[in-house]
Amino acid sequence: MRCRIVGAPVEDGAGRMGCEMGPSALRTAGLVAALRALGHEVVDMGPARRARLRALRHANAALKALPEVAAWTEALREAAYQASADAMPIFLGGDHSISAGTLSGVARRAAENGRPLFVLWLDAHPDFHTLDTTVSGNLHGVPLAYASGQPGFEGYFPDLPARVEPTRICTFGLRSVDPAERSALTAAGVTVHDMRAIDEHGAAPLMRDFIARVAAADGLLHVSLDVDFLDPGIAPAVGTMVPGGATFREAHLVMEMLSDSGLVTSLDLVELNPFLDERGRTATLLVDLTASLLGRRIMDRPTRSF
Ligand code: ARG
Ligand code: MN
Ligand code: MN
Ligand code: MN
Repeated sequence: MRCRIVGAPVEDGAGRMGCEMGPSALRTAGLVAALRALGHEVVDMGPARRARLRALRHANAALKALPEVAAWTEALREAAYQASADAMPIFLGGDHSISAGTLSGVARRAAENGRPLFVLWLDAHPDFHTLDTTVSGNLHGVPLAYASGQPGFEGYFPDLPARVEPTRICTFGLRSVDPAERSALTAAGVTVHDMRAIDEHGAAPLMRDFIARVAAADGLLHVSLDVDFLDPGIAPAVGTMVPGGATFREAHLVMEMLSDSGLVTSLDLVELNPFLDERGRTATLLVDLTASLLGRRIMDRPTRSF
């Protein structure tokens, strides 16, 4: 497979600084070499560049860095559209606001190719706020709402070339959901597999179900991996730590099952804050999870199906 690495050094959407260093840390942790070792052709496109800033005024006074995030969204939408023409793009965040751009770019690509786009959102949070409902004002809390066409972004974020159907989105690992997000997720028909569901059923059957849906629809699959999907005990380099996240093996199993499916066509690695890491362990874990997603196996044999 051909992979295109796209740097998205964005930290304007997070509540604290540091995510801008994410792409460097992922490169330092050996992302390119790990993918090449699996036999993939890797093209490193270097960092995307933010579009021109526009003055934007909004009634929600809590909003932070709206012009910056809007301009990044415009640039990353174009980068994602281009990079997905002939390869699997891997976007190196950057905080999760980058997914406003990456999702809208790959959604345009999917629409032009006449394929339904599915999204697997691996995160402690749904990031399903609108510009009107966010209380923190941190715009890494809005990308999934924007990309799925929730109202209130018109005139602020770029117009959507194609939206992601909310019913084709699966959020996985949630354990911090604000009241406005809770009702909006339900109303929109987004699939929610929260940590409670993963505890009760296990990650495998939930993943198997979702993968079967994507396969049945002959869909494309975008995976968005927020560091805080993982338990803070194994992934400390994140500004929004939430206890009770996915374990090391749960996370690898999700990646291995996705790899077996052969359905994943694009990937975000977001919210890595290297300033908060411990000797690079979180960056290294992200590289290893990406390797599992791209074909690294414990043994060269298919797992028995029951
Ligand atoms: N819901 C909270 C907020 O809106 C947390 C969002 C965290 N998002 C993230 N991508 N880490 O502020
Ligand atoms: Mn997130
Ligand atoms: Mn999160
Ligand atoms: Mn919120």
